[in-house]
Amino acid sequence: MNIKQVKLIYFSPTGTTQKVLESIAQGITDEVVEHINLTRPDNAQKPIPPFSDELILIGAPVYGGRLPVDAINRFKQIKASKTLAIPIVVYGNREFEDALLELKNLAIDLGFHPVAGAAFIGEHSFATKDAPIANGRPDSLDVQKAKAFGAKIKEKKIGMESGWELAARYEEIRVDAQKPFQLTGFIDINGNPVTVEDNFVRTLTLGVNKYINYNVKFQVNYEHDWYDNSFLTPTSRTGDNLLESGDVSVDKVLMRMQLFF
Ligand SMILES: Cc1cc2nc3c(=O)[nH]c(=O)nc-3n(C[C@H](O)[C@H](O)[C@H](O)COP(=O)(O)O)c2cc1C
Repeated sequence: MNIKQVKLIYFSPTGTTQKVLESIAQGITDEVVEHINLTRPDNAQKPIPPFSDELILIGAPVYGGRLPVDAINRFKQIKASKTLAIPIVVYGNREFEDALLELKNLAIDLGFHPVAGAAFIGEHSFATKDAPIANGRPDSLDVQKAKAFGAKIKEKKIGMESGWELAARYEEIRVDAQKPFQLTGFIDINGNPVTVEDNFVRTLTLGVNKYINYNVKFQVNYEHDWYDNSFLTPTSRTGDNLLESGDVSVDKVLMRMQLFF
């Protein structure tokens, strides 16, 4: 997989979507990126050559929780061939609702292969000094977040170009009922009711991914779980209703073949 260029395609009447896309692109590459600005109808009438080996940031603002009809119509003239794409929507701090999903689905219909996506806040087009809504956004913190998002895309891009990706993740989940309660339907090994109060689970995941091509990915994950409550672990249940002290430290190896189409 060889990604030749990063390009921005957008519909952005008041310029915030364009600004967000530019900031994300700065996190991906130091090179000057090509802009395909489809905001003005005259620009949108120029023919757009089909995309293939590029990474495309495709962006639009949110209007009424959806994509602007004009943006959809402009984007519909684009043709791509499994080109990697990042759909981005920018909204005025009310809600982005279905817009990101709509852009992702549209990108797939156009022939793109979305590999990440995001919704960012921009100043609401209806904002005034007296009725401010996200005035001045994207601000310096938004720009920083957009660049950081771009840096993550860059890592992903490098991984996809080489075919190999390494990943690590640490997760914690704590459940605390504040007082002991009886697990109805369960008994312990002595036939007594089982009472629990809380559990704290930590998981470390180390993964290796191998992309064979645009459509096929193999994934192997090693997971280690730590459980604080020995009655609430994957091995604490024997039969339908018998709970006994299980392993509080559990190892798992998970393998997955993923097909994109
Ligand atoms: C007609 C219209 C509808 C909008 N609807 C929403 C909305 O549903 N939710 C929201 O958070 N912002 C909404 N906005 C605000 C825009 O999404 C926001 O201002 C965006 O940053 C504009 O992007 P642009 O500068 O690229 O044109 C709306 C703006 C307009 C003009």
